This record gives sequence, structure tokens and C-alpha cells, in this order.
Amino acid sequence: MAEQESYNLKVVRQFAIMTVVWGIVGMLVGVLIAAQMAWPVLNFDIPWLTFSRLRPLHTNAVIFAFGGSALFATSYYVVQRTCHASLFAPGLAAFTFWGWQAIIVSAAITLPLGITSSKEYAELEWPIDIAIAAVWVAYAVVFFGTIMKRKVPHIYVANWFYGAFILTVAILHIVNSMAVPVSLTKSYSMYAGVQDAMIQWWYGHNAVGFFLTAGFLGIMYYFIPKQAERPVYSYRLSVVHFWALAFTYIWAGPHHLHYTALPDWAQSVGMVFSLILLAPSWGGMINGIMTLSGAWQKLRTDPILKFLIVSVSFYGMSTFEGPMMSIKTVNALSHYTDWTIGHVHSGALGWVGMVSIGAMYFLIPRLFNRELYSTRLVEAHFWIATIGIVLYIASMWISGVMQGLMWRAVNADGTLTYSFVESVQAMHPFYIVRTLGGLLYLSGMLIMAYNIWKTIAGAKPAKVAVVPVVAH
Ligand code: HEM
Ligand code: HEM
Repeated sequence: MAEQESYNLKVVRQFAIMTVVWGIVGMLVGVLIAAQMAWPVLNFDIPWLTFSRLRPLHTNAVIFAFGGSALFATSYYVVQRTCHASLFAPGLAAFTFWGWQAIIVSAAITLPLGITSSKEYAELEWPIDIAIAAVWVAYAVVFFGTIMKRKVPHIYVANWFYGAFILTVAILHIVNSMAVPVSLTKSYSMYAGVQDAMIQWWYGHNAVGFFLTAGFLGIMYYFIPKQAERPVYSYRLSVVHFWALAFTYIWAGPHHLHYTALPDWAQSVGMVFSLILLAPSWGGMINGIMTLSGAWQKLRTDPILKFLIVSVSFYGMSTFEGPMMSIKTVNALSHYTDWTIGHVHSGALGWVGMVSIGAMYFLIPRLFNRELYSTRLVEAHFWIATIGIVLYIASMWISGVMQGLMWRAVNADGTLTYSFVESVQAMHPFYIVRTLGGLLYLSGMLIMAYNIWKTIAGAKPAKVAVVPVVAH
């Protein structure tokens, strides 16, 4: 037992549990705002519960609280296992846990109060931004410190992805959050006009590229080979994948600003790099899926592997759709519509959500030295979540394309065919279907919480010690 503790698992356990907790909270808010779109009366005329205030609460909770906790948990686990070393500066690691939770709680208080910098995915006000920078620097020290004290010469590819995610997010956050405070709860961005927009979407797109993608690719490269008990399909491809992805993502931000005041050439650069991005993304997807070569039959019986592999399929799907949407003429139709929301959630629910869920089902029994309470419940979770995603994204695709076409339809005399209100009416059934899809996805998370609870509290200790002894 003493030897097992040579790995610092406490902080991994804490983040793993909070992944499930924040997942439920963030998705519950998601379901509420989805329902508000269908039935606006659910705003209850209470300012704190209006869609406009709960929407950023949803995005912050699912991306930074749920996704962030999954990334902290898995990166701290993977870096220790692959470096054969315990975490560097354990006190600092504990600080990242409590600091991150405190930041999430401050977000949950300030956003419903309407305190916001109004920059998407960077809404939190300056005192919280400073706290984020402090926690993130501590995270970098713990992670890279552990890499430095590794007992094996090689740095496994998952760590490259985690490392790039940690470094890039630090730079993005610090540069984009530069602001002039006027009071404790209000500040103004240091940038103005089109520069502000460009910096914001350089941040926003790379938050997708490094927070929602590179970090989760770290998860893919460790947990799929582990669960499938196969080596990575092509290690060489994984290294090419890493460098090509890191180089290309950073230029693609302007696709969020098509047909704006941003110079035309900059928009075109964004579009071209987004199209190029298809190649490394699909290289990575193929590498993930082909890791199952020779072990395909495991997919039939292993629901954890189903989560992991289907997540990579959604990664492939959203990274095909994204480059298509970055083509200016396609974007002219998709921008401002629910199509974007469908794209976001095929990445968010399909890729980020499922890969995190799969990793947590792998990790939690090992972290607590218990047998998983019920594999059948994992299977049920998998199917409920998958049906939920299909309902969510299919309804948003249909309503998005319909919105786009209705807005641009003109009569022979040049007048608009539809009023805006008519397009809103046409969306209504799709908003109901989306709410249903979200409810299913949330129900899956509740099943997971029950299963995890029974696993930890249950009396089924693992037959063999599932946390191997660290080699010193
Ligand atoms: C039960 C599951 C979920 C439901 C019901 C849900 C619902 C929603 C709704 C209704 C919106 C607002 C759409 C609009 O403004 O038209 C939204 C936005 C968003 N959600 Fe979710 N969501 C869920 C899970 C997630 C997860 C797990 C993530 C990320 C990991 C995520 C990331 C986002 C993002 C990034 C946006 C903003 C999209 C944009 O501005 O284009 N959501 N969600
Ligand atoms: C090759 C990869 C990808 C490319 C080229 C890409 C491209 C795009 C484009 C063109 C938009 C619409 C911009 C607009 O009209 O405003 C968009 C929106 C978005 N994408 Fe992707 N995408 C990719 C992958 C992903 C993945 C894997 C995720 C999630 C995990 C994701 C999350 C988002 C989010 C959150 C937005 C909404 C941003 C906002 O307006 O709030 N994307 N993406």
C-alpha cells in the first residue's frame, strides 16, 4: 500500500469525482437553457435565471469545470504513470485543485449576477482572471516538473499533447484577458475594435484547438491503447499529428470573423488553414480508431471502449464539418444559425463528453481499488448518451439550415419571403427535440453518478491491485 502511494493519486481522485459532479451541474444548466428556447416562460422573469446569464454559466461549467477537471485528473494520472515518477510539488498540485474549484464557484456566483467581461468563453471578470492565471502557472509547474523528474528517457506522446494544451492555454488566457479595471467587478479590454475581435477569436478558436482538442487527444492516446490493450496504431503518425495540429490550429481563428471588418486577406488565411486542419485531425482520428486493429471484437462487449472509440468518430465528424463551415460561402449560410450549435455539440457531447466519460469509467475503479459496480449500467449510459447526441445534433442541423435558408429567401420583387418571427416559429419543434436529446444525455450522467457511487461505496474490492506499483 505504501508503495502504491508513491503515485500521488489523491488529487487525481478529487478531480475525477468533480468531473462527474460538474458534468451534471453544467448539463443541467444546458437542459434548462435548451428548454427556455422552447418555452421562454421558463425564464421565470427572474434576472438571475434568464437565458443570457445562464448561457455563459453553461459554457463555463461544461468546458472549464467538467472538461477542465477531466483534463487535470487524466493529465496528473498519465504524466505520473508514463514518467514513472510521482507528481512534482504535491502541495502545488493540491493548490490547483482547490484553486480551480474556487474559480468555478466564483463563476457560478458572478455570471448569474450579470457580472461579465462579455468576451465569449472569457466572461469572467479580472480578479477571477488573475486567479486563473495563478492556478494555471501552478499546473504548468507541477506538470512540467514531473516530466523533468521522469525516470524513463522517453516522453510519451500523450504528454506532448497535454503539455501543448497547458502552455498554449496559459498564453491565450493571459493575452486575451488583458484589461483595464474600473472597479472590482468591471473592466474594459485593453484592445479595441477589430483588434479586440481578432484577439478574442484567436483565443476562442485556440480554446477549441488546445482546451477542447489537444488535451483530450492526450486522453485518447493514453486511454484507448490501455483499454484496448493494444499499442498505438502508429507512433510515428502520432508525432506527425502533434506537430501538424499545433502548427495549423493557431492560424485558423479568423474563420469566426468571416464578412466582418477584419481584412479580407486575414479571413482567407483563416479559411485556408481551417481546410488544411482536416488532414492532421483525420490523421489523429485514424490513429485512434486503428489502435483497435486486431481487437475489434472487444467493441462488442466492452462499453468503456465503445465510449472511447465513438468519441473519436465524433471527433472525425466535427473536424470534417468545421473545415466545411470555414469556407466563406458555406459560412454565409451557417453563421448565426443553429448549425453552429449542432457543430459545437457534436464536438462537445460526442468528442469531449464521451472521451472524458470513457476515461473516468477506466480511472475511477483503479483510483479507488474497486471493481466497477455495473458494466450493464455503463452499456445503458452509452446508448442513452448516443441517442441523446443524435437527437441534439440532427435537430440543430435541420433547424440551422432551415434558418439560414429562410433568412436569405427573397421574392421576385426583392422583398424578404419570411419575417424573422416566422423563422422563430419554424424552430420551435426542433428546440423541443434538442431539449429531449439533452435530457437523455443528462440522464446518462446521472446513471454514471449512481454507478460510480456504488463502485466507491461498494464492498467489491478489485481482485488484483489495479494500481500497479511504481518502479523506483
Ligand atoms: C445535456 C447536455 C447539453 C445541453 C442540453 C446543452 C445545451 C446548450 C444550449 C441550449 C446552448 C445555447 C445554444 C444557443 O445559444 O442557441 C448551448 C451552448 C453551448 N454549449 Fe451546450 N449543452 C450541453 C452540453 C454541452 C457540453 C458537454 C459542452 C462542452 C463540453 C457544451 C458546450 C457548449 C458551447 C461551447 C456552447 C456555445 C456555442 C456557441 O456559442 O456557438 N455543451 N448548449
Ligand atoms: C478541424 C477542426 C475544426 C474546424 C476547422 C472548425 C471550424 C469551425 C467554424 C468554421 C465554426 C463557425 C464559426 C462561425 O460561423 O462563427 C466553428 C464554431 C465552433 N466550433 Fe469548430 N471547428 C473544428 C473542430 C471543432 C471541435 C472538435 C470542437 C469542439 C470540441 C469545435 C467547437 C466549436 C465551437 C465551440 C464553435 C462556436 C464558437 C462560437 O461562435 O461561440 N470545433 N468551428
